[in-house]
Amino acid sequence: MLRIAVSSCYNCLGHLHAGPNEPYPGQQLTNPETAMPSAAPSALEFACRMPKAELHVHIEGTLEPQLAFALARRNGITLPYADEDALRAAYHFADLQSFLDLYYSCASVLRTADDFTDLMLAYLKRAKADQVVHTEIFFDPQTHTARGVPMGTVIEGLIAGIKEGRLRLGISAKLILCFLRHLSEGEAFDTLTEAEPFLDYIDGFGLDSSERGHPPKKFASVFEKCRALGKPVVAHAGEEGPPCYITEALDILKACRIDHGVRAVEDSALLERLVREQVPLTVCPLSNVRLCVYPDMRTHSLPQLLAAGAMVTINSDDPAYFGGYMNDNIRAVQAAFCLDEQTWRRVGRNSIEASWASTEEKAVWLAQLDPVG
Ligand code: ADE
Ligand code: ZN
Repeated sequence: MLRIAVSSCYNCLGHLHAGPNEPYPGQQLTNPETAMPSAAPSALEFACRMPKAELHVHIEGTLEPQLAFALARRNGITLPYADEDALRAAYHFADLQSFLDLYYSCASVLRTADDFTDLMLAYLKRAKADQVVHTEIFFDPQTHTARGVPMGTVIEGLIAGIKEGRLRLGISAKLILCFLRHLSEGEAFDTLTEAEPFLDYIDGFGLDSSERGHPPKKFASVFEKCRALGKPVVAHAGEEGPPCYITEALDILKACRIDHGVRAVEDSALLERLVREQVPLTVCPLSNVRLCVYPDMRTHSLPQLLAAGAMVTINSDDPAYFGGYMNDNIRAVQAAFCLDEQTWRRVGRNSIEASWASTEEKAVWLAQLDPVG
């Protein structure tokens, strides 16, 4: 059988070690009669409609310009942008740091518990529309406590939103407290102490912010304490930072998932380990393109990760800033790589299996993912 990839699916995938006309595992094939993708619309539809978990989203990264200006008005804060369009026009990032500068600046509109509740509910509604059944959400308390917003205000506001989301939308959500890695480990310890009265509401701990020059080992002791408190830990690694940060996150922090991890393809032994141990990778395709980790989607390492058998999940990271939520990421990946339904089902299963939902909840969602009949 002649196997040809459709032109819109970019068959110039030399970096995948496939011949020019050979598909890579999971790539959609074309019908040679019609030169149309044989099942492309249904694979995309399937991926958009399947129940899935989102495991990598920063609540502060879901702050849409409209809500940012509404909260700024409500709190009497002046943003350094004339209006929503001017803010949107500033969304051109050269790298992670240039994004973080804007992201932390916009977060200054969040002051009261109601602000955090409104932000959470807006995100949960959006996630629900993309058939996200369960989501594990990062928050950056140090961004807020540094401005005088108490830890309790942040957590109580977010939890009120999660409770309302479960009641009104039926969506399940967990909270992951992230330490900012550009700050010191001492400051992370102080944050953990402030968070201790709220531990029942915190499902795990993470590590985010400027990666380069801030290796996971800088946080070895505070992560040890988080684990001693009985909480799972995750860490951003291998986004902009080198593959050895992924190894440190696994071996020193004992991270049970790696956030991003896309640079693992640069180290074949590491990639083999991630596959062997089935370490979940929370990949964020639109984010990686918007932050110039890859010049465009076609050069993203996702197909290599999938072809190797890594436990890949797809996520939105900071959807308000990077051009879209869960299904926007799926559409962008599909436009670049034309994955088949089986691959999307695997990605969906991975997201549910890698989540911290209960065994019973997972069983329900996994059953909904399986082919009928
Ligand atoms: N905080 C918010 N988005 C982030 C990202 N993509 N990487 C690291 N820290 C972040
Ligand atoms: Zn992130």
